[in-house]
Order: sequence, then structure tokens, then C-alpha cells
Amino acid sequence: MTVATQNIQELLARRKPGHALEQPFYVSPEVYQLDLEHIFYKEWLFAIPAAQLVKTGSYATMKVGAYEIIIVKGRDKEIRAFHNSCRHRGSLICKAREGQVAKLVCPYHQWTYELDGKLIWANNMGPDFDPTQHGLKPVHLRDLNGLVYVCLADTPPDFDDFAKTANPYLEIHDLRDAKVAYSSTIVEKGNWKLVWENNRECYHCSGNHPALCRSFPLDPEVAGVSADGSISDRLQAHFDACLAAGAPAQFVLGGHGQYRLARMPLQETAVSYTMDGKAGVKKQLGRVAKPDAGSLLVFNYPSTWNHFLPDHTLTFRVTPISPTETEVTTTWLVHKDAVEGEDYDLKRLTEVWIATNDEDREIVETNAMGIMSPAYVPGPYSPDWESGVIQFIDWYADVLDRAVAPQRMAAE
Ligand code: FES
Ligand SMILES: [Fe+2]
Repeated sequence: MTVATQNIQELLARRKPGHALEQPFYVSPEVYQLDLEHIFYKEWLFAIPAAQLVKTGSYATMKVGAYEIIIVKGRDKEIRAFHNSCRHRGSLICKAREGQVAKLVCPYHQWTYELDGKLIWANNMGPDFDPTQHGLKPVHLRDLNGLVYVCLADTPPDFDDFAKTANPYLEIHDLRDAKVAYSSTIVEKGNWKLVWENNRECYHCSGNHPALCRSFPLDPEVAGVSADGSISDRLQAHFDACLAAGAPAQFVLGGHGQYRLARMPLQETAVSYTMDGKAGVKKQLGRVAKPDAGSLLVFNYPSTWNHFLPDHTLTFRVTPISPTETEVTTTWLVHKDAVEGEDYDLKRLTEVWIATNDEDREIVETNAMGIMSPAYVPGPYSPDWESGVIQFIDWYADVLDRAVAPQRMAAE
């Protein structure tokens, strides 16, 4: 059964709230295309931590669906994004995932662009050629306290609401003073929504994440979103204590459910995601004065979740690469003056989340395989333990429903 013969609207209309989605949402190329067009090509997407681009000419590339993007640091230290497609005959300009250049030079016929996208050299193009009309096409970009977001839409949706809400939480983490300690990219053989569903609950944690469970609390309220927006007294006391120490912590769900911020407590004696729960970095990144402030958890659908700890920060980027494959990039950020081997041991800093990511990959892939079976029917989510998944699926279904509704009316 493909979506070609089944109206996506019907699938959405008969969706049982509180249940997983039907198979086509996780496997069909048609739904995947809709997800790209109505979500990934429209929304603001987390791209990289700004700290990844250290010098003038440092660049990173990314692929979102059919789009190829270059993000590059200019001579003025501004970070800009461009479509990675030459204005001559369209070749990719930068092929590597990241690198360092003096100019952006197309490998095909060496058209040469300044780091701000201006075309500055194109050989033998005749007297009528106007280089000013052939600069690189820009991609919208926002740098939110060291988190670089891009948007592929011609007219991007509002970013200011998220920026204004997130700013006070992020400021204290000083990501502008960060450096990349380590970055890992893995591919999970499962639809991007399965990656998110898995991220939005910790129902699976006790059975799958022995390393993470040494520091991450087994409390459904930490990953979840209570149906009535209520916060337990215990959690509220933690938020209040963090705020009193200068670190905003209060739970916020904003953007019609697109983003959430909350500084959540870790296991009682843990202060960071290490095997012994102690800090992973001596020289801390940011100014969180309360060592047991826990982890500021930020998600912003559809592309990122992040953990901001008193000692270091972790960013995660989720990029769909096919209906049944998703790339997850994790970056560990530490203070730029922290010295490896002195202030932190890289293995100790990274081992918990490297293990956790691999365990999650395995879970997502196994989930995806089971969903391929014709016998699969969507089952119910746990209202207590999977409230975050219910929230994600509701957000997704709502966005897609709004996107396809006018199309259906036009077709009728
Ligand atoms: S395609 Fe880039 S210079 Fe020809
Ligand atoms: Fe997990």
C-alpha cells in the first residue's frame, strides 16, 4: 500500500491520537517528499555550532534533501550560508564536510567567489558578462548565541520568538567561547521521525542505556510534556534553585509545540554525562554557578536537540537522508582554553554519548525493521512515559495536516 493510492489526508484524519503512525509515514517516498517540502525546506534548521568555524575561510557543508549548502566564515568574521551550486553550470563548489579556504573556487572551471559570495573571477566569459549577477545564492542564516540555524524557504518563518525565549537560557553557556572537542556523525537506518520518537522518551533508557543511566534520571517528567502543562513540586523546586543561582531553568513549550526548553536535574549525585557522574571538563564552558544545575535540554523540531551542562555542551543535528535513513551529528563543545589531557580526557568526556548514540541507532533500526512488516499496526504510547512522543507526533501531524489541506482543496 503506497501513499500514491491513499490520500495523505485520509491517513492523517484516521490517525489515532496517542498512537504511533501508520507504516507509510515511516517508509513511503511520497510522505518523505512531503516531509522535506513542508518541514525541512520550510523550517529553521540547526546547522552547526558557530565554534566549528574557527578561522576566516573555515567552512562546513550540509545536505538537506536535494539542497546542498555551504556555511562559511567571512573576513569580517560573519558566518554566511550559500547554496553549494556554482552559478556557472551548477557544480558543487565544496565537496568536503568541512575545510578551510581562502576563496570559494569551483573545481570545474575555477570560477572564484569571495567568502561573502561575490563572484570575483570567471575566465573568458565575454564582454557582456556581468559578475555581479552571478554571486552565490544566499541561504537565510541566524546565529543564536553560537548556534547556527539556516532556513531554505524564500520567506522564512519567524525565528525571533524562539530566539527571544531561548536567549536568556543560552547566554550563560557562553558558546562563543567554545571549541569543538569532538564530533561524530552516524547514520541510523530508520525514518527521521523514529529518531525523534526515540529521543522524546526515556521509557527505553533503563533497558538500553547502562552508561547514560548513571547520570540521566529515570523520571518520565524529564523527557516528557505533561498533558495539562503541570510541573511537579520537586521539579519546580529545582527550576527555582537554578534561577536563584542565575541559570534560567523554567520549563517552556513554545512555537505551537515546536520547541521546548527546561533545565532538568540529573541523577542525585551526577553533574555531567560521565561514567562516574563527575564533571567531564575542569575548565567549564559558561557561567552556571550551581554544579548540580543539571542539563538545559533544548529541542527544536525538526532538526535538533541539545544538552547544556555546567561544564560542557552537546549539540545534536538530525538530518533525513532518505525515507529510511537519518544522519545524526553530535558535537561536544568545551571552553576554547580547555586543554585536552589536562582539563579533560576526550574518551571520558565522550564515551557516554558515543555509547548512547550507538544504542539508540540499534533501537531505531530494530524499530524500523519491525514497522516494515505487513503485520505492523500502530500501538498506543504510554501516557506517563511517552508524553514527549505524543507531543512530537501531534506537532508533526498538525504541521503536515495544515500543509496538505490546501492542496487537497485545490485538487477537488
Ligand atoms: S560549473 Fe563552476 S566554474 Fe563551471
Ligand atoms: Fe535513547
